[in-house]
Amino acid sequence: MEHKTLGRTNVRIPSVGLGTWGIGGGMRSDNSHDNRHIETLRYGLDLGMHLIDTAEMYGAGHSEEVVANAIAGRRDQVLVATKVSPQHFEYDDVLKSARRSLVRLRVDQIDLYQLHWPNERIPISKTMQAMEKLVHDGLVKKIGVSNFSVTQLNEAQAALSREQIVSNQVEYSLLDRSPEENGVLKQSEKDGITLIAYSPLAQGRVFSGRGRPFEVLENVAARNGKTRGQTALNWLLQKEPVIVIPKAGLRSHVEENAGASGWRLNQQDSQEINRSFD
Ligand SMILES: NC(=O)c1ccc[n+]([C@@H]2O[C@H](COP(=O)([O-])OP(=O)(O)OC[C@H]3O[C@@H](n4cnc5c(N)ncnc54)[C@H](OP(=O)(O)O)[C@@H]3O)[C@@H](O)[C@H]2O)c1
Repeated sequence: MEHKTLGRTNVRIPSVGLGTWGIGGGMRSDNSHDNRHIETLRYGLDLGMHLIDTAEMYGAGHSEEVVANAIAGRRDQVLVATKVSPQHFEYDDVLKSARRSLVRLRVDQIDLYQLHWPNERIPISKTMQAMEKLVHDGLVKKIGVSNFSVTQLNEAQAALSREQIVSNQVEYSLLDRSPEENGVLKQSEKDGITLIAYSPLAQGRVFSGRGRPFEVLENVAARNGKTRGQTALNWLLQKEPVIVIPKAGLRSHVEENAGASGWRLNQQDSQEINRSFD
C-alpha cells in the first residue's frame, strides 16, 4: 500500500482507506451484518488500508461501534476519522458529539475529526473554537472538513488560531469531477490539504456503466492487467493531494480496492481516460 502525507503534517496515510457508509446501517442502526462488516474491515487493515472513515450520523452511531470492534486490539495501527453532523456545530454540541463518538469508538483520541457538511446558520468561529479545544484537550489529533467549498474552507481556517485544516473530504470520481471545476482540487494542491475522495467508485456505477467511456476504461484496465475499479481509483490517486476511501462490504471487494495502489497508469492511458469521462 502506498502512503501519502496528511495535509502538512508528518502523519502518513494510506492512499486507499476504508469507507463505512452503510456499515452499521444507513440513517438508522442496523446490526444484522455486523460480523461480516467487522471481518471485512479487519481484512482491509491487514492489507494496509489503515484509515477508516466513519461519522456520528452513519447508522445513527452504530457505524462507529462496528469500527470499534474492527480496530479492537490494533488501535495503534489505525487512523480513525469520524465526523460531526452540521446540526451539532454549536460550541457545546461539538464537544458533546466528540465525547459520544469517543465512547462509541472506544478510543481516547480521534485521529481526524471532520465537519461533515457546512452549516451557514451557525457561525463557523464557534464551531472551530470547539474543534481547537478538542485538540488542546487531546481528544482530537487533527481537524478536517467535508463538502466545503474553497471559500468555506478559507473561512473555517481563518477562524482557527493555532491549528491547520488538514483535509477536505469531497465527492470525486470519474463520474463526478466537480473538485476539478470548483477549485477544491487546486486549493488542496496549493495549500497542502489532503483531498479525501468520497464515493470514488461513483457508488458502484464505475462497474455497471455502459457506453464509450466505460469501454475505454475497460480497455485501459485490461492493458494494465487491472479491473475497472482499480483503474478508476488509480486515476484519482495520480493527483498528489488525493486519497480515496471506497466502501466495500465484501472481502473480495476490499482486496480488489487495495490493488488500486502500488502501480501507476502511464500518461497515455491516463489522458485517454481523462478525455473519455470529460
Ligand atoms: N463526507 C460525505 O458527505 C460522504 C458522502 C458519501 C460517502 N462518504 C464516505 O465515502 C465512502 C465511500 O463512498 P460511497 O460508499 O458513497 O461509494 P463508493 O465507495 O464509491 O461505492 C461503494 C459501492 O461500490 C461497491 N463496491 C466497492 N468495491 C467494489 C468492488 N471492488 N467491486 C464491485 N463493487 C464494489 C460497494 O458494494 P459492496 O458494499 O457490496 O462491496 C458499494 O455498493 C463512504 O462509505 C463514506 O465513508 C462521505
